[in-house]
Amino acid sequence: MSSSRAVHEYFDKSRSSVYDEKIRISIPGYEALHQMTAQLFRTVLPSDARVLLAGVGTGAELCALGRTAPGWSFIALDVTKDMLDRCRRNAEELGLTDRVEFVWGAVDTAPRGPYQGAASILVSHFLKTVDEKRRFFREIADRLAPGGALITAELVSGGNVATDDLVMEAWKNTNLSGGISPAEVKDNFEKRKQFVAEPSEEELVGLLRESGFKDVRRFYQAFNFVGHLCLKSR
Ligand SMILES: C[S@@+](CC[C@H](N)C(=O)[O-])C[C@H]1O[C@@H](n2cnc3c(N)ncnc32)[C@H](O)[C@@H]1O
Repeated sequence: MSSSRAVHEYFDKSRSSVYDEKIRISIPGYEALHQMTAQLFRTVLPSDARVLLAGVGTGAELCALGRTAPGWSFIALDVTKDMLDRCRRNAEELGLTDRVEFVWGAVDTAPRGPYQGAASILVSHFLKTVDEKRRFFREIADRLAPGGALITAELVSGGNVATDDLVMEAWKNTNLSGGISPAEVKDNFEKRKQFVAEPSEEELVGLLRESGFKDVRRFYQAFNFVGHLCLKSR
């Protein structure tokens, strides 16, 4: 079974219908992550940039970027139809849809570009093997113009079992304190083990470099979630 099919099962209707509410409880700085993404892109992209959003989900990055720069246009791509339908509705509410092409599929089905920017926010940890992660980042890099920018954010492991356990416990407590029920938190953490594979940050940065991003700079961290700005060579 491919990762993309498995992930489609993970983001079933019951999860996607509450995603916008629950993700904001679960990941500290979720909205800040998307706002920082928008501001980083504003700093590096031209005013008429085309931007590929791989694993756009319900569209938090599309909404943040769409609000930031009226001249940017987007490919909003996701393997899960229900998430993409919600993304379209969220974009409609902001009047963004005339600047967006929605694509239901994996990243290798994205139009070739070239794009000046790309984002994959909270996506690559759903790819279970190193090869799948490498292919994912390469598909994005291949579609970017020379000098183009990727912003990626994902779960990594700290490479130290004791501190990883401690950080995971704190993350679990964040969910509980935010009002998510103990049964749901337990279920989410068990599912996470089935659906998610975290590399170490070093491995992640190595994969990004191998994929053609020579310049990789961390700009965000919340527990074991990290965000990087990656620039493709000119
Ligand atoms: C945790 S959500 C993140 C959504 C959004 N980027 C955000 O920041 O809220 C992960 C999304 O990635 C999608 N996804 C996972 N693997 C994918 C792949 N290989 N290609 C495209 N989308 C993928 C899932 O369907 C899901 O909608």
